[in-house]
This record gives sequence, C-alpha cells and structure tokens, in this order.
Amino acid sequence: MLRPFTDQSPRQQLQPGWDDALTFSYCELDAMWVARWTTEAGWEPGQLFEHAGATLELSPGANVLHYGQTTFEGLKARRTREDKIVLFRPIDNARRMRQSAARLLMEAPPVNDFLDAALAVVRTNIKWVPGYQKGSFYIRPLLFGSGPVLGVQPAKEYTFLVYGCPVGQYMGGDSVVVLSSAHRAAPHGTGAVKVAGNYASSLQPQKAAKAMDCVDALYLDAREDRYIEELSGANFFAILYDGTLVTPALGSILPGITRASILTVAKEIFHWNVVERLVPIEEVLTDAVEAFYSGTAAVLSPVTRINYRGVDHAIGDGNPGPRAAMLRQALNEIQLQERPDYWGWVVEL
Ligand code: COI
Repeated sequence: MLRPFTDQSPRQQLQPGWDDALTFSYCELDAMWVARWTTEAGWEPGQLFEHAGATLELSPGANVLHYGQTTFEGLKARRTREDKIVLFRPIDNARRMRQSAARLLMEAPPVNDFLDAALAVVRTNIKWVPGYQKGSFYIRPLLFGSGPVLGVQPAKEYTFLVYGCPVGQYMGGDSVVVLSSAHRAAPHGTGAVKVAGNYASSLQPQKAAKAMDCVDALYLDAREDRYIEELSGANFFAILYDGTLVTPALGSILPGITRASILTVAKEIFHWNVVERLVPIEEVLTDAVEAFYSGTAAVLSPVTRINYRGVDHAIGDGNPGPRAAMLRQALNEIQLQERPDYWGWVVEL
C-alpha cells in the first residue's frame, strides 16, 4: 500500500552510522517518488510517498510481470567536503531511461520530471546521504508497465518510481571469468539499453563466476565469441603496453555514463590515446598491462586476473595498476568538486 508522505509521516529512526562500512543493499527510508502514466491522462504529477513499509498493488495482468516491460537507472548523490550535496550527470540517466523505454515501447517521464523526482528523493532523505568520502546515496529510478495485458502488447499504464539508499562499493573484486556458454547480448538485441531482462539473464553466469572465485562474468560477443563486451553490470577497459586505453565500441553494450566520463577524462585531462573498437580477448590477455571495469555502482575497479577457457591469466604484473587509480581519483575529484568540471556534469542539490 502507498501512503502519501506528509509532515505527519513517521520518520525512520535508523541513525546513519557512517563508520560501519556501507554495503550495496536495499533499504527503506522516509520517502520515495511515484508517478503514473495512463493513455487517458498522460503523466500525472508525481508525488512523494512513504517508503518504509510501502508495497505496490499491481494487477496480476501487469505487463512487467509477464513480458518484462521494465527499465531502471542508477545514479548517485554525494556529499562534498564543503557539505554540499551533488549529483553526477543526472540528465544523462534521464535521457538513457527514455532510450531504454523507447526500445520496449514504453512511455517514459520527460527529462525534467525525472530530475525533479531524483532531487525530491534526495532532499527528503537527505540525512542518509553519507558523509564526505563515506559512501554515496544511490538513487534507483524504475519504470515499468503496470497496466494489464494478456497478449504480447505494450501496457496502457506505466509507473515511474524513484527511491534511494546509502551505499558503499558494488562488486569490487579484481578477477573475472569468460564463460564460453554465456553471452549477454546479441547484435540488434537489447544489450544497449538498461532493461531488467539483461540483468535477470546475468544471474546464472554471475553465480558461476562466483563459484570460480571471480567477481563476475566477462562476456564476449554472441557472433564470434571473441570480442569483449562487458561485465554483467559494468563496462570494461584495458590499457595496452603502448599506453592506449581501449574499450569495446558501443553497439550491444550499455552506454555507461561512467564509461563516457572515463573516456573524456582520459582524453581531455590526461591526453591519452583512447580508442573505442572491437577488443579481442586474446589481445587483452597478451597486450594489456592494466584492465578495469566501471559503472555508477561499481565506480572503477581493477581487473588483475581473467580466467579464459579454464586458464588463469594475470593482467600486467597481476597487481592493480597506476593508470586505473589515476582515472578513479580524477573522476572522484570531479564528482566532489575538487577538480574543475569543464563539462557541467555535476548538479548541486
Ligand atoms: C549501476 O551501476 O548503477 C547499475 O545500475 C548496475 C547494477 C548492476 C547495480
């Protein structure tokens, strides 16, 4: 059941204790945002509802339950040293949600409505934005077909919901495995959009990866089983022995916002040679001195070992490398307003 969030709504008593390491886990805070679209009324103005104890009422015929009409986003609010709250590239998340929605023939909120909802959720739950360098407030916007259908067809009602949780690092392990039997996306499929099905189908490969002591699966392309695509929830990069930063070109991979930011920082701040192209797995195993993965949740973590066809390959000398660390630091400083933001990426609350 949904109850509007008012001055009388109960406030969560949980006191944020930022000294305990934060995990990347679901939590229920004071308020979340919900808006609905119907064929008759279009987007109704959204509003805040109580988050703790909230449940959703859905028709058993809701498209999302049968045919998976659903997409989501992830973005972060962080606290700067000066105690300002800042979001990183939220408009890009809003735009990507619209692209994902278009691929699934869903109605998506206008960019400004997405931004207003995200800001309202941060403002209302502001005491859970972790302290400076103690973690992030992860904002999770969801959009799903809530209207009933029986045949395969688009829903006639959509629900847009935004909640947030204080989080620490997602994943963070430095070994990945290439599983010969698992592909993430096919050419012209849905790999380039952030739809839930891509993540549901990653659960089994992820479990297999963990059983092999790896943080995640690294997927190869579905056509030739040779070119690196990405991890289940993060983009992939390698730094070759000549210093070139390579990453798989867009096509069937997610156009990550952290990925795009890393490419810009590498080119425009560090003046590295940066190439988006096909990246054969053998090239990474033989020519890479560093590798890493990136995402909003995953941030930027080194890959020091790739298991390919049952054989472990160390990347470079098998230790986290300096250039991945430089990129991570630069990105962190830009996000926290400690380096110039030439691109207007940071939005203050
Ligand atoms: C993110 O990085 O924000 C994502 O949505 C990835 C998800 C697997 C946690």
